[in-house]
Amino acid sequence: MAGRVCPVWVGYLLASPLRRLLQNPQKTLGKYVKPGMKVLDIGCAMGFFSLAMARMVESEGKVFCVDLQEKMIESLKKRATKAGLLDRISPRVCSDSSLEINDLAGQIDFALAFYVVHEVSDIPGFMTQIHKVLKPGGKLFVAEPRGHTTDDEYLQTETIAQEAGFSIIDHPKIRKDRTTLFVKK
Ligand SMILES: C[S@@+](CC[C@H](N)C(=O)[O-])C[C@H]1O[C@@H](n2cnc3c(N)ncnc32)[C@H](O)[C@@H]1O
Repeated sequence: MAGRVCPVWVGYLLASPLRRLLQNPQKTLGKYVKPGMKVLDIGCAMGFFSLAMARMVESEGKVFCVDLQEKMIESLKKRATKAGLLDRISPRVCSDSSLEINDLAGQIDFALAFYVVHEVSDIPGFMTQIHKVLKPGGKLFVAEPRGHTTDDEYLQTETIAQEAGFSIIDHPKIRKDRTTLFVKK
């Protein structure tokens, strides 16, 4: 299931404001992300969702943004600075074996893994780390593009998440994508 990571040039496309016409962050995430929350954007790339969530959490909230690729995080920081949102984000370069979020145990209200799981080599380790940082009742939103995963692979991801301690509470509708909203039991 795991593939190679998204190239940096695709990161620029994913961060384009035109993407909002097809995937509006407010419409997709607005009901989960509220002012004052601590949220986590895993595989944030250049921050299409991170910056939108930074607006949703307002000045008392925080968005922790992790990505494997330093170039994605550097571009995210520039975009956050330009948008006047740098103080609401905590950008981190992670590795295959660690999301670098151990300091956040039990603190996160909402986590997003948008179009990233198919690139992850150790999905059980990935889910376990996310589970650890969520508060009890905290939510994880996973979205995967249909072209990158089969039905069986996606079901396997859901099973792995359940084995890590998540329950499935919804399959939110996003055109053409596979999505799951999990809650930490
Ligand atoms: C297809 S992009 C999606 C970016 C973003 N979530 C979005 O929807 O705009 C996937 C991103 O996940 C990152 N990534 C891949 N494997 C990862 C891992 N194990 N941990 C953290 N980030 C990862 C890649 O570097 C890339 O920036």
